[in-house]
Amino acid sequence: MSTASSQAGGIPIMVLREGSNRSRGRDAQHGNITAAKVVAESVRSALGPKGMDKMLVDSFGDVTITSDGRTILDEMDIQHPAAKMMVEVAKTQDKEAGDGTTSAVIIAGELLNRAEGLIDKNVHPTIIIDGYRKAADKALETLEKIALPVDLKSQDYLKKTAITTMGSKIVAEQKEYLADIVVKAMLSVAEKTENGFKADVDDVKVEKKTGESLSDTTLINGIVLDKEVVHSGMPKRIEKAKIALLDASLENEKPEIDAKINIESPDQIEAFLAQEETMLRNMIDKIIATGANVVVCQKGIDDLAQHFMSRKGVMAIRRAKKSDMEKLARATGGKIISNLEALTKDDLGYAGLVEERRTGDDKMTYIEGCKNPKSVTILVRAGTQRMTAEAERSIHDALCVVRDLLEEPKVVAGGSAPEMEIASVLRKYSQTLAGREQLAVQIYAESLESIATTLSENAGLDAVDILSQLRVAHEKGQTWAGVDVVAGKVADMAKLSVFEPLAVKKQIIKSATEAATLILKIDDIISSAKMKSPPMPPGGGMPGGMGGMGGMGGMPGMM
Ligand SMILES: Nc1ncnc2c1ncn2[C@@H]1O[C@H](COP(=O)(O)OP(=O)(O)OP(=O)(O)O)[C@@H](O)[C@H]1O
Ligand SMILES: [Mg+2]
Repeated sequence: MSTASSQAGGIPIMVLREGSNRSRGRDAQHGNITAAKVVAESVRSALGPKGMDKMLVDSFGDVTITSDGRTILDEMDIQHPAAKMMVEVAKTQDKEAGDGTTSAVIIAGELLNRAEGLIDKNVHPTIIIDGYRKAADKALETLEKIALPVDLKSQDYLKKTAITTMGSKIVAEQKEYLADIVVKAMLSVAEKTENGFKADVDDVKVEKKTGESLSDTTLINGIVLDKEVVHSGMPKRIEKAKIALLDASLENEKPEIDAKINIESPDQIEAFLAQEETMLRNMIDKIIATGANVVVCQKGIDDLAQHFMSRKGVMAIRRAKKSDMEKLARATGGKIISNLEALTKDDLGYAGLVEERRTGDDKMTYIEGCKNPKSVTILVRAGTQRMTAEAERSIHDALCVVRDLLEEPKVVAGGSAPEMEIASVLRKYSQTLAGREQLAVQIYAESLESIATTLSENAGLDAVDILSQLRVAHEKGQTWAGVDVVAGKVADMAKLSVFEPLAVKKQIIKSATEAATLILKIDDIISSAKMKSPPMPPGGGMPGGMGGMGGMGGMPGMM
């Protein structure tokens, strides 16, 4: 292959293994940008309250219905390396801010799309990258400047931001009710610090059970386990529970290798079984001696052990998830014990009530009145399994947004108002820069405007018309002018109470800029022989490397 070899005195020298693939310069850039654009295009129609949902079917035929950017990209079987970098954008955004994944991917796609236009005009990518970095700095500065500080003494803005986040998801019909639950949950786990709050989304357990409807979603002060009590003879309700948390199996260990026992008389069988029984009984006696009346076990519990416990009025649960064990330890003040011999009464956790209740078609175990009141569970209910799954994702986004605001109590209005305001500031700023960098900052501004365009398009509005109205409004100093997707016109988004945390918007700028500059900096792709090759630019056609996305290159509205 010519790109993988060199001529020395007329003899070709192979540097790369045969079958390796290499594309360079404009070819490499074009291939990467095209792939990234395709990814951005695929989530576009999901943006905003009027955005559409996607139905994703995996290789096992499992169906996911969602409008969450991160989930859409996660479920797509993406193979192209540059396209994968776009998936990373969504992941970073999700991890850092929890919301805004679709926006980050759309903006990254636009930044690359417009950069390509400049590259075609012979502007070097390095100059574009420098311009983009300057623009991003200015954007962050502008966001800080326009953001409104909020007083967390009232829950007003916490609720408003949670409502905005859920307003663009299938759960929108119940957004006010769910926002209430989300805010209460987050506030009960948040810790007050010297200069504000510290909160961890993982402290709120979200459990889901299909059945009933979204409006039956509840907040439980305590932990809910999707497990039933192991033995029908055990109590189903225990007050003043002393809970043993075990990471040890309550079974007789089976030997790992095949072992043979030679038995020569019936007595020996009996003795053997009696021995097994004694060992189990000793285990259970050991637990009961500590005063425990509830056992939550991460491993299995032998039938006989269950029987012994039920006779003593002990309630037991087996095969609890590791993450649940950790939450239980924190909530009840107990310690997870992996060696039964070491269990003492000081290791037990405490809860006011442990009860098995029928929930939907199944039974779940509720652990309430815990020692540590900072433990809550949101039990998500909805009619179908796909709806509960999407509701869980939306509630997770909302929890993140409330956390963002607790940790940095500043908001901006939404509906593309901040993006339009930044664009307007950047245009003025670009005038102060020299030559080609000026062009880069201008296209950065245009890329941010894609949020307004996309929101309008998804709401079936005339995007060109709305965009020009928005530009004029922001020129006139109307900072919060955005797209009112319900009324179908330009409006003051702050008056409409569409607020989002500043942290989300800042992260969108950071994630999108980082991805775009990273991709723009690449001008050489060398794929080893084992890898499938990345796509060539159109004209060269798309070889197999596009995998699941084969043939979709640069096609808008593919989904
Ligand atoms: N009532 C509303 N009117 C106008 N725009 C709104 C309204 N509610 C939300 N938006 C805007 O919709 C956009 C958010 O849409 P969406 O939640 O679908 O995507 P995302 O937050 O970028 O990504 P994801 O939620 O998938 O992680 C934001 O720009 C937000 O300001
Ligand atoms: Mg969102």
